[in-house]
Amino acid sequence: MKIAVSGKGGVGKTTISASIARHLRDQGYQVYAIDADPDANLAQVLGIKEKVKPLVELEDVIAEKVGKKGSFYSLNPEVDDVVEDYSLVQDGIRFLRMGGIKKASSGCYCPENSFLNSIMRSLVFSRDEAVILDMGAGIEHLTRGTSAGVDIMLIICEASQVSLETARTIENLAREGGVKTIKFIANKVRSEKEQEFLKRKFTDDELLGIIPYSEELVLQGISENGDSGLLTAEIARLFAKLKLENNQ
Ligand SMILES: Nc1ncnc2c1ncn2[C@@H]1O[C@H](COP(=O)(O)OP(=O)(O)OP(=O)(O)O)[C@@H](O)[C@H]1O
Ligand SMILES: [Mg+2]
Repeated sequence: MKIAVSGKGGVGKTTISASIARHLRDQGYQVYAIDADPDANLAQVLGIKEKVKPLVELEDVIAEKVGKKGSFYSLNPEVDDVVEDYSLVQDGIRFLRMGGIKKASSGCYCPENSFLNSIMRSLVFSRDEAVILDMGAGIEHLTRGTSAGVDIMLIICEASQVSLETARTIENLAREGGVKTIKFIANKVRSEKEQEFLKRKFTDDELLGIIPYSEELVLQGISENGDSGLLTAEIARLFAKLKLENNQ
């Protein structure tokens, strides 16, 4: 199962990604949790203390696998071993940090992008494990080639017009890229009124679930003490629903 998580800044992508990773681990899956947001903190939320170097900064590995800047380089290097060797295991979850895709305007950084793209391909196509990609609002790590390997994109939003607009923009990008299934999760929902607002904006089929606002999550985060009970239960419920839908 390959799951991408996206949404506007601060909506709860990382919190939910970490919780999904733990849920799937507890269900017996081998889990890869991937930080694919250039300034994300998934490591911290998973309880990882050490600083993890982003893959995009592994200059020697990139030079070895892809080739050097300015010379011929491989568009499709074999990187399955990099995924093994450079992931860090915490509480039974394998963690990798991608680092940012280089923009074309910052010069020719093609080897780095080719490397990251191969890592993504390896993650979504070459393995049977569950892969959770914490993506940020930009989904540039998902190229036309790799989007097809994502089984489901979960777009997180809050009950606000701006967050819904971002959610729909991401949806369009993901659809254009070829992601097959896209669902929305509303997070930090505080009232009946917010629930009604969300139900007007999404069809029943689009909206996978509504996660209530939890003061406990704001105060403690989920890093040190594991998930809050509330989030654990909500994620289990959402996945049970997904499973049901897929079996139909
Ligand atoms: N259901 C919730 N209720 C209350 N607070 C929440 C809830 N879900 C997440 N939060 C809190 O919201 C804050 C932002 O969460 P998180 O870092 O997961 O968002 P994000 O979308 O990954 O942000 P960023 O765009 O910065 O990566 C955190 O303090 C988190 O504890
Ligand atoms: Mg985040």
